[in-house]
Amino acid sequence: MKYTEKFSEDVGSFFRSPVREIFKRVDLNAIYSFAGGYPSADTFPLEAIQQTIAEVIAKYGAKAFQYGATQGVPELRDAVAKRYGVPVERVQITSSSQQGIDVCTRVLVNPGDVILTSSPSYLGALQSFRSYRADIRGVAHNDNIEEFQAAYEQMIAQVSEDGKKIKFLYMIPDFQNPSGESLTLEERKMLVALAEKYDFLIVEDSPYRELRYEGEHIPTMYSLSPDHVIHLGSFSKIFAPGFRLGWAIAHPDILDKIYVCKQSLDLCPPILDQYVAAEFLSSGRLDENLKKSVALYKGKRDLLLSLLNEHMPQGVKWTHPEGGLFLFLTMPEGFEAVKFYDKSLDAGVAYVAGEFFHPDGNGKNTMRLNFSFMTEEKIRAGIKLLAEILQTEL
Ligand SMILES: Cc1ncc(COP(=O)(O)O)c(C=O)c1O
Repeated sequence: MKYTEKFSEDVGSFFRSPVREIFKRVDLNAIYSFAGGYPSADTFPLEAIQQTIAEVIAKYGAKAFQYGATQGVPELRDAVAKRYGVPVERVQITSSSQQGIDVCTRVLVNPGDVILTSSPSYLGALQSFRSYRADIRGVAHNDNIEEFQAAYEQMIAQVSEDGKKIKFLYMIPDFQNPSGESLTLEERKMLVALAEKYDFLIVEDSPYRELRYEGEHIPTMYSLSPDHVIHLGSFSKIFAPGFRLGWAIAHPDILDKIYVCKQSLDLCPPILDQYVAAEFLSSGRLDENLKKSVALYKGKRDLLLSLLNEHMPQGVKWTHPEGGLFLFLTMPEGFEAVKFYDKSLDAGVAYVAGEFFHPDGNGKNTMRLNFSFMTEEKIRAGIKLLAEILQTEL
């Protein structure tokens, strides 16, 4: 049978994650891999999880293995509402934030509609947007707020000239994947004001928000304009990604559509996982564990920054993330991180070329480095090696 004739038109817009392709090519445990975005397995509180699962089964019995409400179990919705200071009617539990992104796009976007985003942006979001045949427009960050605003205004005018509609702006304001950078309060206010003025929504994706290693917390974009922003959160980086749990906070009219959409997607988020997460949150175990994770990641980030200072050749620049799991390296103009990749892999170091994160095709001379997954020993050896082979190329 010719399967190609059977597939939907949407399938033509799917694209494979280059990060997962890297995973297929090599055994990442056998090399120095700054490529993935995995949390450190050392942050998974296995004993406490084992104990909590036993407590949940004792407390809920068969209910923990039954279907449940599409919005999520009340215990977890309440715990999330309380933690983030929002009414429970505004909380929908998701099967993690990747589903949150996908379901928002499915509910809001028609083929050809415009989604604005930063350039670079999160690859999994770009995959989802493309799969719904959205027209993705990227805007580069600019430290000068007037110029940054002007770049957005210019893009908004261009979209209108093209006779198109902006459905939403997708932003990762806290310790962005891939750059590690955050939006200042002023920048958040500026973008929210644009959304209100030009009548589009903002999808604020913030899975790294609670992994802050320095500086003060900055208010969420949601808190600045609760009716214009859909806030997405996740347990993946603060608890364990294997639970596949997250949340969406939004106006009840938007949540109602997400709710109906989720009925056809997965009926309900995983029930046992939700009860375990609810117990973890309300007992304080999550915060206890999070403190340890933050200390571990801060140590790894500090180490990576000092190694870059010590070893990187002249002309290489990098971001200084105040939290999260990534930093972004920029090499001099003319360097091509995609081409350099085979040489790097042959030497035993993996990274993700920054170009893949740029919806506008820019960023050829950039690469993303993850610092959460490898041991400090491997980070040390990996950066020395990467610096050595970069030196031969620059
Ligand atoms: C910015 C961002 N959003 C969403 C996700 C998806 O995370 P999850 O579906 O595990 O919550 C990731 C994962 O790396 C991410 O970096």
